Amino acid sequence: MQFKLEATDPQSSARAATITTDHGVIETPIFMPVGTVGTVKGVHQRELREDINPDIILGNTYHLYLRPQTTILEKAGGLHKFMNWDRNILTDSGGYQVYSLSANRKIKEEGVKFKSHIDGSYHVFTPENVMEIQRTIGADIIMAFDECTPYPCEYNYAKRSMHMTHRWLDRCIKHLDKTPLKYDYGQTFFPIVQGSTYKDLRKQSAEYIASVGAEGNAIGGLSVGEPADEMYEMTAVVTEILPQDKPRYLMGVGTPANILENIALGVDMFDCVMPTRNGRNGMLFTSEGIINIKNKKWEADLSVIDPMAITWVDTEYNRAYLRHLFTVNEMLGRQIATIHNLGFYLWLVREARKHILAGDFLDWKNGMVKKLAQRL
Ligand code: GUN
Repeated sequence: MQFKLEATDPQSSARAATITTDHGVIETPIFMPVGTVGTVKGVHQRELREDINPDIILGNTYHLYLRPQTTILEKAGGLHKFMNWDRNILTDSGGYQVYSLSANRKIKEEGVKFKSHIDGSYHVFTPENVMEIQRTIGADIIMAFDECTPYPCEYNYAKRSMHMTHRWLDRCIKHLDKTPLKYDYGQTFFPIVQGSTYKDLRKQSAEYIASVGAEGNAIGGLSVGEPADEMYEMTAVVTEILPQDKPRYLMGVGTPANILENIALGVDMFDCVMPTRNGRNGMLFTSEGIINIKNKKWEADLSVIDPMAITWVDTEYNRAYLRHLFTVNEMLGRQIATIHNLGFYLWLVREARKHILAGDFLDWKNGMVKKLAQRL
């Protein structure tokens, strides 16, 4: 993997860069659509490629391990081939899903024993087997196995957990060194900073993560219910310490405004279920603010979904029709909202990139954050 810094905003820590892997170039800042089980829900790969056009999408080790399972993925030659996606993929390690989804889990030094949310069967994730599973899934960027602490989190728990995440990181690295690549392209490993909402722990964790010298670094344990200002405070502490010449990925973030604020703090990569999940629930992010398409307000509004026309769905359909599709629970409504929202998120990070390259990011960001807060 190569990381090339192209520009840094003179008035903030925002950066524009490129990441190059064997599956192509990723222009940053980037938003990675979430494709949990090997599909960005409701979106054809052709629509993803041609209409939304992200350089990278995300998959989840936890889900893919449970279904379709690694045997099938290996037989297919990896997730890219299985799902017919030849651009970049990043897989999360399960270090978040195992805590948020499994019915029952026991965290020990060795690893996590958990009960599948699908059939109640028991499984164990360790730093070692999660590296092997990610080798088999075959994403371009693979993540360390960590513990994502909840919010709020008592100081001593956060501290113990952070140290365990660091020890797990050492085990991930040691095991990866002994685990050959499965396919004919490279994989890049990102460790994850933890430390809850405690500045001293965040600082300590960022220093440890920086010291292992990985090709890119991630920030976890945020956007778990803490106030936005606390999130920004933690990101700022961490981005000060993580190396400038490597990509920084803030996991699970966030609203459009969260993304812009964290770009200003020096984050390059983001993922979040918000555009897809909220879209399926009728929430649309637009350049003028947020729309809840299920509201009666849109019942007879024949204007287009979004006059900015980022993706073709924006002008192909009107608001009253989209509201109708949600009212009668037609899947087309959810598909339209998903394409619209992902188109909007990708537009937003591309605009951010343009403004960083032009040197006027901060003013643009401040104006945009105000607009985004409006509800139509
Ligand atoms: N996704 C969102 N937050 C986290 C985190 O802290 N760890 C992992 N592995 N994934 C995440």
